[in-house]
Amino acid sequence: MPATDIPRLHPETIEAVRERADIVDIVSEHVVLKKQGKDFVGLCPFHDDKSPSFSVSPSKQFYYCFSCGAGGNTFKFLMELGKRPFADVVLDLARRYQVSVRTLEPTKRQELQRQLSLREQLYEILAVTAKFFEHALRQSDGEAAMTYLTASRRLTPETIQQFQLGYAPGGWQTLYGYLVEQKRYPVELVEKAGLIAPRQAGSGYYDRFRDRLMIPIQDSQGRVIGFGGRTLTDEKPKYLNSPDTELFDKGKTLFGLHQAKTAIAKQDRAVVVEGYFDVIALHAVGLNNAVAALGTALNAAQVRQLLRYTDSKQVVLNFDADAAGVKAAKRAISEVTEMAYQGNLQLRVLNLPDGKDPDDYLKAHPAEDYRTLLKAAPLWLDWQIQQLLQDCNLKQADQFQQGTQAVVKLLSDIANADTRTHYVRHCAEIFSQGDARLVPLLAENLLAQVRRKRRSPDERKPSQPPPNPWSVTSLEEAESALLRIYLHAADYRQTVVDALEERDLQFSFSHHRALWRQLTEFSATQGGNPAIYPQDPSSHWGERSESSSEGNLAAMLRDRCAESSGSINQVLHLLHLEEKTQRDILRAPLVIRAAVACMEKALCEKRYRHFLTLWAETDGADSPERHTYYQQQIYAEKKRIEELEKQRQVDFSDLAQIPWVGEFYSSLESP
Ligand code: UTP
Ligand code: MN
Repeated sequence: MPATDIPRLHPETIEAVRERADIVDIVSEHVVLKKQGKDFVGLCPFHDDKSPSFSVSPSKQFYYCFSCGAGGNTFKFLMELGKRPFADVVLDLARRYQVSVRTLEPTKRQELQRQLSLREQLYEILAVTAKFFEHALRQSDGEAAMTYLTASRRLTPETIQQFQLGYAPGGWQTLYGYLVEQKRYPVELVEKAGLIAPRQAGSGYYDRFRDRLMIPIQDSQGRVIGFGGRTLTDEKPKYLNSPDTELFDKGKTLFGLHQAKTAIAKQDRAVVVEGYFDVIALHAVGLNNAVAALGTALNAAQVRQLLRYTDSKQVVLNFDADAAGVKAAKRAISEVTEMAYQGNLQLRVLNLPDGKDPDDYLKAHPAEDYRTLLKAAPLWLDWQIQQLLQDCNLKQADQFQQGTQAVVKLLSDIANADTRTHYVRHCAEIFSQGDARLVPLLAENLLAQVRRKRRSPDERKPSQPPPNPWSVTSLEEAESALLRIYLHAADYRQTVVDALEERDLQFSFSHHRALWRQLTEFSATQGGNPAIYPQDPSSHWGERSESSSEGNLAAMLRDRCAESSGSINQVLHLLHLEEKTQRDILRAPLVIRAAVACMEKALCEKRYRHFLTLWAETDGADSPERHTYYQQQIYAEKKRIEELEKQRQVDFSDLAQIPWVGEFYSSLESP
């Protein structure tokens, strides 16, 4: 597209694209990359490279060629490679990563320039303020704060300096006096930086942070963008934070990221904790890969930021183990489940013993212990299963049931089939309560439920394979097929009746039951129908469609439908034969067998679940006989279900053995 047509993009759009587009993803579409340590290497696309001198760093989101010196970020790479203008590249990526595009009006350009310089000025004011607080901490005013840090928090001067901790003096206009009167920063800018607020009554401003221990919050590049201020008394709130400003967005910031990013890349793992002092305490003992969300729930954007630095995408949540912390962990998990289910995030959850937070824990334990716990932290799914089942008494039927349902819901979202199978098995072990023989049964039961659950919300997806036209797949289909045969193939009516009676089966859908009642009543008045094996294929196909008894039945049904608006209307479709249902009539004996198997299977499954519940309810020690009896029933039902499953599958070879079907079938093959 010609350069003049390219819209000027809003900086937020550019930033959002920068965040989404991963350099390794992009480059690897043009260059074959091989992993080498933390980075990737390949042949440089910018010169005639003989040996791989082109390297891409996922943690720095940067490429560099050691031979020709080409280097830059994702945007630069695509610009240079395709000789394309900046906005063109960004637009393309925005489309690809589904970032909504905002553009600037031509007149907004000046505004943008003004904003850029505003931001620069705000950075400066905040940096100067951080220095001011650091200085104040070392004055007599700041003595109590310094003692708090060194005595109560046991921090070393190095840590205090590393995090640029400081002190905001008491008094209403101390910082104001320094920044506005002494340093001559425009008062509106100091307000925009979130450091002062206008007085409610009268004119003038007052300092937001007074007599507080000050913790600067930096962006990932180390620029101060806000502050957290901890009270040194019992004053509320315990922590007062900068408001969101032009530079500071709580939901997009991670405290400590600047200090942690190298360690995250090196250890290939990030730890997310709840509090400022948890981060500081961890860094103080050399656990430098810790960051914190700022008093808000950890969100997907924050996690994505972390993932830039860890190749194997490992993030451990180490929130407080109290109710609030567990809730925060669950919320954070719900924010990133999609990433985790897709395998783009290896999420673990660490709960420290005795409900401690990392800061408390490290006061009583060496860093090595923490590291050990970190390594052993369960994957988030294991943790969630633990959480789901820890308060569940599996000996109680209702709780067993609830536990199963909760687990099924959790597991049915797992995209990867192997992972799903693994967790199904794992949960089956838990549900078996130590009885190893039951694990396979329970696993199969869980798997069936998970499958059902996965199927139901997925029905919208068109990617489902079309149903095999030769097999009876669902119970409803099975029942419909039987009714259709009864209606349209008079010769098989008795076979249908016998098959149902022999196994004592009933239709399970009420509209089917209603129709069946009508049909059998009607047939009784007509004196029944002899079952005759077909001698002449033509009598089962096309031309024969208005044989007398069928005509009667159909006429009777149409009359009844006209009279009532009840459930019988739901079965009207059975009167019509389409191509597939015509085929069902052709192979009636097979379809009857499969359909009846399907119905009996549904019954067995019901009994199977019933016995499973009873078994779970029964205490093996209290009533061993009942316990064993239920187990035997479970096994028996299971075995029968397997047999029926086989019968349910219509077999082609069987089909071909019936002479008239064989002919018909080969006529389908060669039109
Ligand atoms: P906690 O209350 O768990 O803080 O809040 P903490 O780290 O244990 O505090 P200490 O150890 O007593 O100093 C966790 C985090 O929630 C945010 C802060 O980011 C804090 O570190 N928070 C908490 C606030 O923003 N405001 C508050 O009033 C309290
Ligand atoms: Mn805490």
